[in-house]
Amino acid sequence: MNLTRRNFAIGCGAFGSSALLGAARNIADSTPFRTRLPIPRLIDAAKQGNAVSLKVISGRHAFVNGKPTRTYGYSAPILGPVIRVRRGDEITMMVENAIDTATTVHWHGLLVPGYNDGGPQRLIRPGDRWRPILKIDQPAATLWFHPHPHHDTARQIYMGLTGMIIVDDGTDAWLGLPRTFGIDDLPLILQDRSFASDGSIEYETDNLATVYGARGDTVIVNGAIAPVCKVPPSLVRLRLLNAANAQNFELRFNDQRPFHVIASDGGFLPAPVAVTELRISPSERFEVLVDFANGKPVALETGPDQEMGMFGRLAPDGSADYVPVMRFETIATKPLVKEVPARLVDPSRASQASAVARRQFIINSGVCMSRTQTGEHADMVALTGINGQSFNMERIDVETKLGTSEIWEVISAGMAHPFHIHGALFRILTIAGKQPPPHLAGWKDVVLVEDTAELLVAFNQPASREHPFMYHCHILEHEEAGLMGQYVCA
Ligand code: C2O
Ligand code: CU
Repeated sequence: MNLTRRNFAIGCGAFGSSALLGAARNIADSTPFRTRLPIPRLIDAAKQGNAVSLKVISGRHAFVNGKPTRTYGYSAPILGPVIRVRRGDEITMMVENAIDTATTVHWHGLLVPGYNDGGPQRLIRPGDRWRPILKIDQPAATLWFHPHPHHDTARQIYMGLTGMIIVDDGTDAWLGLPRTFGIDDLPLILQDRSFASDGSIEYETDNLATVYGARGDTVIVNGAIAPVCKVPPSLVRLRLLNAANAQNFELRFNDQRPFHVIASDGGFLPAPVAVTELRISPSERFEVLVDFANGKPVALETGPDQEMGMFGRLAPDGSADYVPVMRFETIATKPLVKEVPARLVDPSRASQASAVARRQFIINSGVCMSRTQTGEHADMVALTGINGQSFNMERIDVETKLGTSEIWEVISAGMAHPFHIHGALFRILTIAGKQPPPHLAGWKDVVLVEDTAELLVAFNQPASREHPFMYHCHILEHEEAGLMGQYVCA
């Protein structure tokens, strides 16, 4: 039997914990647009000899005014720096773990060998240091980094461990794109959180959170609730990262102005793609240009997560379909970049004929359905795994050959899953049986699979049995429930 996503969501929701909806206890509904958008510190690696240090720390941050609470961050109370690296450079990283539990640092989207990728095998114990050398050899892109320890990834990210990486290969300057960090080139890290009345982060791990992933009732951008950002009256580049545990953001501007999508996970698109609605799934990135030349303020909003039916609403009382994410106001300065370029960069070719294997990955999560049918509450939550097998760190699931490509067919049974592959980039050949829309047609490392997707995956980084690459659902509670596998590449 085949339930549609929406039935699945509504069926499960009927058993109803209000925790999922954050029902009517949103304490963050004080006046929006008061806080200035925090801009993470920029580390320009080349300006410091390509040596970069990160310290995983526990800190305090006030999401809610006057109510500071415990958080984690990378060399910051929450989140971490934006690290800019140049293609061709070799970065000497030093990560120090100063929290009281083991962590790892995974460079999401960076093409480096498995032993440097910070997977679950690469634990940094409290007080220890890890020194990977990262050779940057990929086109310009917006990437990120986050923890990946088995069974503690979701909580550590929810507590604040997320940073951004910008790979620069000179294309920005050559195309004349907005590139002044913090002025017309802005990192926007989108997340959702629930807060207790004392302002502390509520991370719930009940059965519903396992089925749906942890979802909060409040959107935060760079750690701030409904912030405001002052921008020049010109084109501004937003580097959008969905670092939520589970939520899909359905973005739009309240005046319907377009997002000109110029890049996705793996780098530039051949030409900008104008859309007025932009869905961004967990761990996905889009770089967009937005025109602020008319000088009018505008709000960025998100709508109900379409994968969740009526339970995807963020407005706690169901009063609004769209809730504000943040606001932009222009300042009276000289406009910087004015024109959206007609062409960007043709991505490197990907030929299906070159694929040496075809594999199928069925993400099983349909068990919630039986709850609906039997009317029982308990013990029905089982995300059974990928191809029926739950993640096992001792098991290698797939062996690939370095320098080849394969077609991976991913099938979501039950609900939509954002499927991510470490150490490789892919092109979407088909999604739900159709060609991908143009803004999803470039190189990617994650794709929201609602039904099926066929991916042409290029394997160009080695990974051994000791340090294999992961592939998994990026709903972090799903990953921890076992929707993850491991592959080697040699
Ligand atoms: Cu964002 Cu396994 O990664
Ligand atoms: Cu999933």
